Amino acid sequence: MSPAGASPLPSARRTRALQERLLAWYEDNRRDLPWRRTTDPYAVLVSEIMLQQTQVARVTPRFVEWLEAWPTLESLAAAPLADVLVRWQGLGYNNRARRLRECAVAAVAAAPDGRPAELPRSLDGLRALPGIGPYTARAVLVFAHNDDLAAVDANVRRVLTHELGLPGDLTDTVLQAVADAVLPRGRSRDWHNALMDYGSLVLTSRATGIASRTRQGAFEGSRRQKRARLLRRLLDAGPQSLSDLSAALGRPLDETADLVERLRRDGLVTETGGIVSVA
Ligand code: ADE
Repeated sequence: MSPAGASPLPSARRTRALQERLLAWYEDNRRDLPWRRTTDPYAVLVSEIMLQQTQVARVTPRFVEWLEAWPTLESLAAAPLADVLVRWQGLGYNNRARRLRECAVAAVAAAPDGRPAELPRSLDGLRALPGIGPYTARAVLVFAHNDDLAAVDANVRRVLTHELGLPGDLTDTVLQAVADAVLPRGRSRDWHNALMDYGSLVLTSRATGIASRTRQGAFEGSRRQKRARLLRRLLDAGPQSLSDLSAALGRPLDETADLVERLRRDGLVTETGGIVSVA
């Protein structure tokens, strides 16, 4: 444990011990997950967006089905948004699906004539795409290209905090500096897989008492649930009036109108002549 106020960066000896221990554990305990059988940056991006707020077990079959439906950036970019949202149902946070499709559209638009679309090869290039934050940009470069970068999500934060005896409230910037310092150069892909697996299988938030700082609020009765139900209804039953939607959902008209307006601002639905449709 470092004394209060001391640098959280571990010594070279401690860093090496952590690297050796976690990589050895990973050799014996690695999970065989479908996104680990590919280094295609697009497939890695799909997995990371799906995994942002959804559990591995739920994502696994959906990831495989998604890549069967849309194996390339071009195929996803050409898909209607409604099809993309239908295939996303059950994963939650529909905005993620919309933005993923927009990433594909942007990559196709940026490809030189006749060349296959590619995701940007740099952090800045990836960060400029819709819905790609600092963690996701780094994760794509790590898992697709094995770049010497550290990607810190809640799992990685929990493992590093616990294993290095760090205070639980370090800022993202400090945690990033710690993660950069302990990264084994040239082993970034294995290292992150090891951190993820160790965090999921051994150091769960229950085992460590370190709660995620971005824990989701309750879904039942939330606006998120109402938005999801409204979109589901439109995908199942097609375009309809506000009053039909309000009746189908069993919610007051003004609340339904408010939900539609929020979904419209997010680019998920449109409203023309009083009829609401998936965008
Ligand atoms: N959570 C986020 N990214 C992950 C990955 N690549 N493997 C397992 N869990 C993850």
